[in-house]
Amino acid sequence: MTAEIHKTDRATDDIAPALLEWYDAHCRDLPWRTPPNAIAAGKRPDPYHVWLSEIMLQQTTVAAVKPYFLTFIERWPDVAALAAAGQDEIMRAWAGLGYYSRARNLHKCARAVTDIHGGRFPDTEAGLKALPGIGDYTAGAIAAIAFNMPAIVVDGNVERVITRLRAIATALPAAKPQIRAFLASILPHDRPGDFAQAMMDLGATICTPKRPACIVCPLRQQCTGLRTGDPALYPLKAARRPKPKRRGAAFVARRADGAVLLRKRAEKGLLAGMTEVPTTGWSARVDGGRSATDAPFAATWKDAGSVAHVFTHFELELTVYLAHLPEQTAPAGHWWSQPQDIHSEALPTVMKKVIEAAIPGATRKPGPVRRTPNAN
Ligand code: ADE
Repeated sequence: MTAEIHKTDRATDDIAPALLEWYDAHCRDLPWRTPPNAIAAGKRPDPYHVWLSEIMLQQTTVAAVKPYFLTFIERWPDVAALAAAGQDEIMRAWAGLGYYSRARNLHKCARAVTDIHGGRFPDTEAGLKALPGIGDYTAGAIAAIAFNMPAIVVDGNVERVITRLRAIATALPAAKPQIRAFLASILPHDRPGDFAQAMMDLGATICTPKRPACIVCPLRQQCTGLRTGDPALYPLKAARRPKPKRRGAAFVARRADGAVLLRKRAEKGLLAGMTEVPTTGWSARVDGGRSATDAPFAATWKDAGSVAHVFTHFELELTVYLAHLPEQTAPAGHWWSQPQDIHSEALPTVMKKVIEAAIPGATRKPGPVRRTPNAN
C-alpha cells in the first residue's frame, strides 16, 4: 500500500535541512563539483563539466570516472573543443569506460550544443532531453546540478536512501513512482542541485548497500527503516534472472617486432566502432565454433587460456589463441599496432583482457625508461 505523503508531515519536514547541513560540512571533493562554499562565494557550476561527468557516471563508479574526466577536460576544456575533436580520438580516450554508445553520443551532443545552441547547454529538463545521449535521469541531474532547477534526481544511491528512510516495502523497480513522489514532497526549491548531490553522497558514503553507518547518519532520527528494524533490508528487489552465456574465440596475432593485429568493429551493435583483435562470432551455442580452426586466417595458433566478461545482457567467455606471424601486410580492414601504441587504441575492456591473456603487459602504457643504478 502506498502511504499518502503530505508536505506538512513534521517528521519529513526537516529531512532536507538536516541533509543539506550535513552536505555543507561533509560533501565529497569531486573534480566536477562546485561545493556549497564556492556557490555561496558566487561561483557557478560549469554545465560542460556537469554534463560530461553525468554521462561518464552512467553505469560507472566515481572512482573509475575521475581519471577519465580529468583527461577529457584537460584535452578538451570546453564543449566547442570536444565538438571539434574527431570521433575516433574520443573513442580512444573513452576506451575502458564501457557502454561505448555514450562516447558516440557525447560527440553528437557536443556538436548539437555548439551548432544549435551557440555553445550553451539548455537549462531546462525538456531542452536537455532533446540532446543526444541525455535521458530522463541525466536531464534531471544536469538541470538540478548545473542550473539549480527543481528536478527530481533518482539514481541507485538515492533509491537506497529513500526506500530505507520510508521503509518502502514495494520491490524495485515498482517502487520508483513512490520514491519520486516522496522526493518531490521534500525537495528544497532553493537548493535542488545541492540536495540531489547530497542524496548521492549520503548513499555513497553512509547509507551504503552493506552495513550502513547509521550511527553517523544525519537522517537517523527521520529514518523509518532504522526505527522499525534493519535498514539494510531495503531496497527490496525483484528476483533477477541469470544472464545468458555466449562463447567465442579471439585471435591475437603478433609480429616479431611486438606489433599486434587489430581491426575495427562494425559501426552498429555491441561495442560499435571500437577496436578488437579478430574474433569468431559470439554464440549462445555450447558447440559454436571456437577452436583454432575457426580463425579468420591460418597460422600456428596456440591456446592462451580464456577470459570472461560480463555485459549488460549476457556473459561472454572467449578462448584466446596466440600466433607469431612473419613480417607481412595487414589484411584489408586490419592494422598492425606497435607495442607503444596499443594502450592508446580504442580497445574495450574485454579486448584488453584478451590481449593481456596472450601477451601479459601489452596494453599497459609504457612508462619512462628506467635506468639501472650504477649503469653508465
Ligand atoms: N553519481 C551520478 N552523478 C553524480 C554526481 N554528480 N556526484 C556524485 N555521484 C554521482
